[in-house]
Amino acid sequence: MEVERVQEIANFSKETIPEDFIRTTYEQPALTTVQGTVLEVPVIDLSYPDEEKVVRAIVDASSNWGMFQVVNHGIPHETVRKLKEVGKAFFELPPHEKEAYAKSPGSQSIEGYGTKLQREVEGKKAWVDHLFHKIWPPSEINYQFWPKNPPSYRKNNEEYAKHMHGVVDKLFRCLSLGLGLEGNEMKEAMGGDNMVYLLKINYYPQCPRPDLALGVPAHTDMSAITILVPNDVQGLQACKDDHWYDVEYIPNALIVHIGDQVEIVSNGKYKSVLHRAKVNKEKTRISWPVFVEPPSDLEVGPHPKLVNGANPPKFKSRKYSQYCFCKLNKTPQ
Ligand code: OGA
Ligand code: NI
Repeated sequence: MEVERVQEIANFSKETIPEDFIRTTYEQPALTTVQGTVLEVPVIDLSYPDEEKVVRAIVDASSNWGMFQVVNHGIPHETVRKLKEVGKAFFELPPHEKEAYAKSPGSQSIEGYGTKLQREVEGKKAWVDHLFHKIWPPSEINYQFWPKNPPSYRKNNEEYAKHMHGVVDKLFRCLSLGLGLEGNEMKEAMGGDNMVYLLKINYYPQCPRPDLALGVPAHTDMSAITILVPNDVQGLQACKDDHWYDVEYIPNALIVHIGDQVEIVSNGKYKSVLHRAKVNKEKTRISWPVFVEPPSDLEVGPHPKLVNGANPPKFKSRKYSQYCFCKLNKTPQ
């Protein structure tokens, strides 16, 4: 089956966009974004020596926004630059080379090159193509979904995955301490060293009507946390108290999203952030989120140390795979 890629649609959409990409007025970014920089997603320096202060900043950001940016995070800038370079090069290959990695239509797996097939609930499509593949742990990796071209794709992605562990461990430690748990308990609740890192590359081609379309509609991530690297084209928005705010592009920062699983384990103290992505009229936007997830058969629920008679569990305990199945079959992602 031939699937129409947004990258191709963008090539012949010079002034208008097809009807099925035009959002309702409730969603159109031009009508629903808070104008002027009133509030901003917090920026946290992870290298700050006073850990208690870092914990407090992460707790505040995770409770109020569910999103923050981190700087001095320990991943070499060169490693991130090389990750971005090869991802961009893949999407700039001719269509037939990308199609070699296409997700097969009936496939249960999320991995591969694709464009969302089904329309969302409101019948609208998102202005984006993507590539999904796991980057950690090695036993979970399917190299058939990793581009062979450019040739350094594999090396650069492996290097990024290797450097991510330091940030992931630091974030889970702070999130854990912030709940009054031992430093390792939040990570353990997510599967410890068996956590899976799923990389997605979002490729949002330039769009003649960025006021009417969306790259990704409003959603929360199912992951524990998501660590996202954007290119220099601003587009991410976070929702706080029912208002949409632009998330500033900060060179070399990583954008951390609290996902549904951290909200669940924290029994609602941390909030999984509602977010969406806009598109740009002149420039292609690209982003590289890594969804840090529990292993699919791990049961995730509110941490036993956080629930008692006065604080009953606010969420069900379920296997991560079951959580994803239920969410994907009920609401748009
Ligand atoms: C996502 C997502 C936002 C972005 O892919 O889940 O929220 O900035 N992307 O691309
Ligand atoms: Ni997301």
